[in-house]
Amino acid sequence: MARTPIIVGNWKMHCDHLAAIQLVQQLSYRLDPKDYDTSELVVAPPFTALRSIQTLIQGDDLPLGLGAQNVFWESEGAFTGEVSPAMLAALHVAYVICGHSERRAMFGEDNQDVGRKVRAVLAHGMRPILCVGETLEQREAGQANDVVVRQLNGGLEGVQAAQMGDVVIAYEPVWAIGTGRTALPEDADEMCGIIRGHVGDVYDAAIAGDLRVQYGGSVKPANIASLMDCAHVDGALVGGASLDPDDFATICRWHRL
Ligand code: PGA
Repeated sequence: MARTPIIVGNWKMHCDHLAAIQLVQQLSYRLDPKDYDTSELVVAPPFTALRSIQTLIQGDDLPLGLGAQNVFWESEGAFTGEVSPAMLAALHVAYVICGHSERRAMFGEDNQDVGRKVRAVLAHGMRPILCVGETLEQREAGQANDVVVRQLNGGLEGVQAAQMGDVVIAYEPVWAIGTGRTALPEDADEMCGIIRGHVGDVYDAAIAGDLRVQYGGSVKPANIASLMDCAHVDGALVGGASLDPDDFATICRWHRL
């Protein structure tokens, strides 16, 4: 089965709900049906903008997917400040980014937490984007593969084979995020291939063959085409460049470059 590429804009902590509406409108003016046919296109605004963007997507019938940047694993309860998977599902959120390196580094999420989030997202009928990736120190110490495999094992713990079609993996080397330093396409391809191979070992070859693996880390209009050329790269998780409607639209239109 051919894998449909998936391009996701991770807005991080940018855009209140008004700015978010503007950004999606500007983006939608720049995209046409061919773009949506070629790749699945998703925006992941902050929590406070989800409802506004959901309404805009529905009202204007935009073929754009809605993503969230984080979630807690419990359905409800005394968890001050947290947002549950049920709440996101009620907003028609389709994708939830789990275990982004900023959450791991700044908010103490470990592989077990990330696994709980992935399972909760799947249990609520949404699709997790499981982020994995090594730091520069780990890469230089030759530990990149081990780190990524550990993150995969933790993040996918308890995920059944039948659920794997809903899982997206994002390989985001920490040293490439927000630094302007993109991984070389061959390095991105190699690690995305290792991820696919590991999923093949844990599940089976058919599941690995269908798995979508994104690259993330300083994806820009200038480098998207060479990344998308890689056999194992099925899309991009885009931070900074997703805040500029021209840049993000160009990235979404990679097939025309
Ligand atoms: P960047 O962020 O594109 O700004 O490097 C990517 C990400 O953190 O998902």
